[in-house]
Amino acid sequence: MKLNDHARFSTVCIHAGQEPDPSTGAIITPIYQTSTYVQEGLGQHKGFEYGRTQNPTRLALERNIAAIEAGTAAFAFASGMAAIDALLTRLESGDHLVVSDNTYGGTFRLFEKVRRKFGLDFTYVDTSQLDTIDAAITAKTKYLFIETPTNPMLRVTDLAAAADIAHQRNVRVIVDNTFASPFIQQPLTLGCDIVVHSTTKFLNGHSDSVGGVVILRHEDDIEWMKFVQNAAGAILGPMDSWLILRGTKTLPIRMERTNTNSMAIAEHLAAHKKVKSVIYPGLSDHPHHALAKKQMRGFGGLITFDVGSLEAARTVLPRFKLMSLAESLGGVETLISHPAIMTHASVPAERRAAIGITDGMIRISVGIEDVDDLKEDLDQALG
Ligand SMILES: Cc1ncc(COP(=O)(O)O)c(C=O)c1O
Repeated sequence: MKLNDHARFSTVCIHAGQEPDPSTGAIITPIYQTSTYVQEGLGQHKGFEYGRTQNPTRLALERNIAAIEAGTAAFAFASGMAAIDALLTRLESGDHLVVSDNTYGGTFRLFEKVRRKFGLDFTYVDTSQLDTIDAAITAKTKYLFIETPTNPMLRVTDLAAAADIAHQRNVRVIVDNTFASPFIQQPLTLGCDIVVHSTTKFLNGHSDSVGGVVILRHEDDIEWMKFVQNAAGAILGPMDSWLILRGTKTLPIRMERTNTNSMAIAEHLAAHKKVKSVIYPGLSDHPHHALAKKQMRGFGGLITFDVGSLEAARTVLPRFKLMSLAESLGGVETLISHPAIMTHASVPAERRAAIGITDGMIRISVGIEDVDDLKEDLDQALG
């Protein structure tokens, strides 16, 4: 299957990286569940020697996601955290990163509890306020690590402007694009250098696999990541690669529905008398609404709303019937969570307060069910 250079996003999602199976013609890339490959003779093989180093199903996924994110190459890992950790192996003791202060709690934990021990240094700033980025960069800074929109405050950072600031100081920009997905924004086309995803979320989209991927455009980054994926070995298995490859085929239609459902639910919540406040970049009162409109295709599937107190949240959460109380996001089914007790429990209470995460906050990852059923469930739970 040869894609045109000008193939559009939905076509790229379905076809990129995939050829009919050469031995059978199977249209779907098989799950190559094998640890090794028979060689025809010494040094004679078909490009596959050992399962950690190469796997055809993983390779198809990596090529598919590289194309979807407009990158040059991609490398798939056993989880989003493994992918983020692989990026840090490019650094040396003494190096410094500037990081979005409202980054995913697990990322904060990896940086502070694991990698700081090895001599890396991190400064957390609100990257949506561009002047904080320049002020935090030092002579030791190697990466600016951005999440946009953030979790659960849904702050939006201007990626093109942030990349300009970082590049003037010789700093490369990593974007964790998990929350948006490449349907909504492609950071590499906005001038950023590296994209990382937890594929566990929108890319897979069906809540049945854990994985991560790094997408790169600079040759030196690609060379290192290819080496480290094999050297450290936190690879994604063939079955998970296949599941994600199936997921990316429907990414555009899932995201379109996610966008329309989320907008309708955000407006519904904003008009509900039991809800104190709603954070959604699609609402005109969101502080970064204009930027989100310019930078994003739709406003994504995450909504945060505040019911006023921990007590109120504890009353409301068990009442949901259709929406499930669970960590994670980006699946076809709607999930609700309580950031302070669940996803952000590893962030100290005073840091949560500084970022604006309250005990009354509930986050919804909006699925693609019928939006009227979702609204009914919200209404009955809010009472
Ligand atoms: C924005 C973001 N990045 C990274 C991760 C980590 O991904 P994984 O759970 O696949 O390790 C998550 C997980 O929730 C996330 O929300």
